Amino acid sequence: MNFTILRFDTIDSTNTEAARQARLGADEGLCIIAAQQTAGRGRHGRTWVSEAGSGLYFSIVLRPKLELRHLPLITLMTGVAVHDALKEIGVRPDFKWVNDILVGDKKICGILAETVETPTGLAVIVGIGINLTSRNFPDEIAGTATSIEAETDELKSADTVAESLTRYIAYFYGILADENGPAETIGHWRQRSTYFSGKAVRVTLPDGTLEGVTDGLEENGALRVKTSDGSVRIIQAGDVERLRKLGDE
Ligand code: BTN
Repeated sequence: MNFTILRFDTIDSTNTEAARQARLGADEGLCIIAAQQTAGRGRHGRTWVSEAGSGLYFSIVLRPKLELRHLPLITLMTGVAVHDALKEIGVRPDFKWVNDILVGDKKICGILAETVETPTGLAVIVGIGINLTSRNFPDEIAGTATSIEAETDELKSADTVAESLTRYIAYFYGILADENGPAETIGHWRQRSTYFSGKAVRVTLPDGTLEGVTDGLEENGALRVKTSDGSVRIIQAGDVERLRKLGDE
């Protein structure tokens, strides 16, 4: 994949800008990086706090030639790429399905993949927010978020992290496009996540919550959760939180 990087000091949201560019015909590999976002978005319409210089705010335009049912694997593939980029700079992350990268139980990165119709076909915009420092965390996230600086005692630049990230995205996106790519991508996710199986979780769904133990992923990346009656629920979308048992740290 060829990367073209457009940098902004301030922008509303790198995902919004990448979508604009995709509608104007941008090729796969266009990346938008901003030092600051004024309307950074997370999943479910949440705000992604995006202070100047505190994070990497990055979006990439992809034009995947995947079957539609495999599109959700783009979020998992991106998670694997972020994981390995962070590992390269000294952080040991874990994944929580579907888009959270954690260190311990604290979030260091979020991923927001959005599809957009363009004159040349469907594009997927993958937005990645990585916390570089915890210094400007607002009170609401101070207890639940972490950063590269907090984990390594070193402040890395957004450019250093972006360089590593684009290298791993190119590698794992290439794997996803292979004939056996979906299964391989799930295998990579499995090797890197303690949430793959055997984790007690509560899942918040649009119509309620369910509790159970994770039981692997379906071939399209959906999460399998085994409930206390032995049945398996397939979760295509929902918020997962770890259930702590007495005696857990
Ligand atoms: C989440 O965990 O809810 C996803 C957060 C995604 C944040 C990134 S920051 C770069 C890109 N631009 C946005 O507006 N959102 C994503």
